[in-house]
Amino acid sequence: MAGSLLASFLLVQALRLILLFIHLVGFALLLGGAVAQFLSGRIRINPAVLWGSIIQLVSGIALSAPLRGGGDHEPDPIKLGVKLLFAVLIFIMVFVPRKRDEVNKGHFIGILTLTLVNAAVAVFWR
Ligand code: HEM
Repeated sequence: MAGSLLASFLLVQALRLILLFIHLVGFALLLGGAVAQFLSGRIRINPAVLWGSIIQLVSGIALSAPLRGGGDHEPDPIKLGVKLLFAVLIFIMVFVPRKRDEVNKGHFIGILTLTLVNAAVAVFWR
């Protein structure tokens, strides 16, 4: 009985760490893809940015499940709501002009800023 409880706890812990790993890869694709594209001088939505924005939404929502055993060390639901709002905004801002040859510089800087703000919310809002 205690053994199977421990096994399922360890399984959920492993699932949380795998999701966190995917979430960090998505962040790297989104931020790295956007910075590299910006520095290239041709400002457009590349596949890394598009897939990064999708991975962040999906992995973030999955990570919001109570994967720590439901204790009071789960992340603040308001923090998660703020992150979800910004991530949905980023996704819309990426998805709508994804086929355009060039996007507005201000729009692109908006995507970059919201990405950095969401990472700051993740790290500083404890
Ligand atoms: C562009 C969008 C996003 C970015 C840049 C981002 C960034 C990050 C980063 C850097 C971490 C690691 C922080 C740490 O472990 O200390 C993290 C963790 C996490 N993120 Fe996101 N995230 C985004 C979207 C989302 C969304 C939409 C959700 C869910 C609504 C979400 C929920 C979480 C959760 C639950 C964690 C686990 C760590 C914790 O806060 O306790 N994220 N995120």
